Amino acid sequence: MEIQVQSLSKVVKKQQILSNVTLSFTGVYGLIGPNGAGKTTLMKILASLTDFNSGSVFIDKKLISTGKYIKQNEQIGYLPQDFMVYPELKMYDVLEHIAILQDKKPSISYHKQIIEVVEQVNLSEHLYKKMSELSGGMRRRVGIAQLLLRKPTILLFDEPTAGLDIEERIRFRNLLKQLGKQHTVIISSHIVEDIEFLCTKIGVIKNGQVLFEGEPGELKQKAADCTFEIKASLSELDEIISTKEVVQMDDELSHIIVRILSDKPIGKSVNPRLMDGYLALLKEDTYE
Ligand SMILES: Nc1ncnc2c1ncn2[C@@H]1O[C@H](COP(=O)(O)OP(=O)(O)OP(=O)(O)O)[C@@H](O)[C@H]1O
Ligand SMILES: [Mg+2]
Repeated sequence: MEIQVQSLSKVVKKQQILSNVTLSFTGVYGLIGPNGAGKTTLMKILASLTDFNSGSVFIDKKLISTGKYIKQNEQIGYLPQDFMVYPELKMYDVLEHIAILQDKKPSISYHKQIIEVVEQVNLSEHLYKKMSELSGGMRRRVGIAQLLLRKPTILLFDEPTAGLDIEERIRFRNLLKQLGKQHTVIISSHIVEDIEFLCTKIGVIKNGQVLFEGEPGELKQKAADCTFEIKASLSELDEIISTKEVVQMDDELSHIIVRILSDKPIGKSVNPRLMDGYLALLKEDTYE
């Protein structure tokens, strides 16, 4: 499935929040950009939760937007960041309740479907716990389970791994990878490492404008000639951090490997990672 957004613009109180955005979402798609770029706004538009001023949206070339809204669409499922409903109900009852609410042709039992989606998100052993007894990451997985009950083909996740501890983040990331095999998935995240792990295509927006769309490899190339590594001792570190653009540091036994972006060659030239390409792109945009 492909969602295509064409020349989409949104203005709120004279502020241009999205400006002529044209993007084509396929595969597992990573949407990145600085705070306030317009990522959440774009996702909410796709989920029919907010309107826009001009532009059009298509699914597989079929128009799904009217002038200002996307028509409510069963194919699209959106996961809000904090999924917390009915804290006093057991997970099973929450899912049954949602299944009944959204079913146009109510059937007698949803038991089989519930068991299936809960297995998919790896929560079978917690099925009869109250929502308030689950961790933030588990609740987020219940959020996915309730989306899957509706069998959407396109899934939207706004910062799905933000605020999760390391173990839960890795579990969540693996789940997203699984879901990407059967669904078109759009993920917004500030955690570039997660985007690198998951996404087959990337869009970068800043101040409501598209700066880049393409494959991860292409974005990495933006930092092709400006990514370097230098070995430093602990005492040299302060000086380096205050004078150079440090992207990452790795502790080795006797020294520290510092990864930097630089226009002039210093130290050893290395292959850029996604983070380097992304930062180089943002820098390029600032100087223009
Ligand atoms: N309902 C609204 N009314 C006024 N301004 C809004 C509204 N919604 C969003 N904005 C503004 O639109 C811009 C884009 O916000 P948005 O939340 O989409 O960015 P974002 O890319 O999701 O940022 P973050 O990375 O911080 O989540 C911001 O400048 C924000 O202040
Ligand atoms: Mg946001």
